[in-house]
Amino acid sequence: MNGAATPALAAAGLLQVRDLRRSFAGVHAVDGLDLDVAQGSVTGLIGPNGCGKTTSVNCITGFDRSFTGHVGMAEKPLAGLAPETIARGGLMRTFQAIRVFDSFTVLENVKLSMQSFDGTTAWHALARTRQFRRTEQATEAKAHDLLELVGLAPKSHDLAGELSYGQKKLLSLAGILMSSPRLVILDEPVAGVNPTRAMEIADIIKAVNERGTTFLIIEHNIPFVMRLCDSVVVMDRGKRLIQGTPEQIRNDPAVLEAYLGGAANVGD
Ligand SMILES: Nc1ncnc2c1ncn2[C@@H]1O[C@H](COP(=O)(O)OP(=O)(O)OP(=O)(O)O)[C@@H](O)[C@H]1O
Ligand SMILES: [Mg+2]
Repeated sequence: MNGAATPALAAAGLLQVRDLRRSFAGVHAVDGLDLDVAQGSVTGLIGPNGCGKTTSVNCITGFDRSFTGHVGMAEKPLAGLAPETIARGGLMRTFQAIRVFDSFTVLENVKLSMQSFDGTTAWHALARTRQFRRTEQATEAKAHDLLELVGLAPKSHDLAGELSYGQKKLLSLAGILMSSPRLVILDEPVAGVNPTRAMEIADIIKAVNERGTTFLIIEHNIPFVMRLCDSVVVMDRGKRLIQGTPEQIRNDPAVLEAYLGGAANVGD
């Protein structure tokens, strides 16, 4: 979707947030946020430390339900739903801190991600029912496919604890893709990752996006955001300052002022 004028805003909305508000003891962490994620887009969410990005995502995904405002995906309201319900509805997320099981293999980690989605229980597993075996085969095939996609197939049987930091980020991504989500929210997917690996991760996300998954990506790495995203939302003090194409964002004086104190260009 890169290239066309304001494509993300013109395309059908998958996620819509209106007037989202969340306070902590009088601190307005999110202060009337509006946000649109177009179906099929890779949308970036940038803004200074503490401007409310993670809090917003916590509210959108049901991990924090003490907010006011409208959150809807594909025209269905999400506000008030539990995180598991939202995940089953096709909205998956990662966290700023990595969550992988170091003492399980890479393949096992990806398969474990599927456990709460495939309808099998410990009883099915113990009895090795036909349903369990069928599901197990499908899960195994899908896990291999996704490990191939994120470039971790050669490491399938290594312990996850042996992976580099960047590889663990990719493993988390493969795990959340197991349930074929419509929308994936990534919180700082390349924080602490070296620049070469960050650009590899951008290409992998693009490849996943081309298979039909929509992304909302929080990130401080501006070159990564500018390379990858169709639409960028700039947040400042709990609200949307502007949403536009990378070109529009890069040239907006208010963005330079709010985000970088007017000190530099946004991206190159
Ligand atoms: N559980 C909490 N209790 C109290 N204050 C909180 C809590 N969570 C977030 N905040 C405050 O809300 C504001 C927004 O925090 P948030 O983590 O959403 O920012 P962010 O944009 O994700 O920042 P960063 O880029 O550093 O990750 C900050 O002032 C933060 O201190
Ligand atoms: Mg954050």
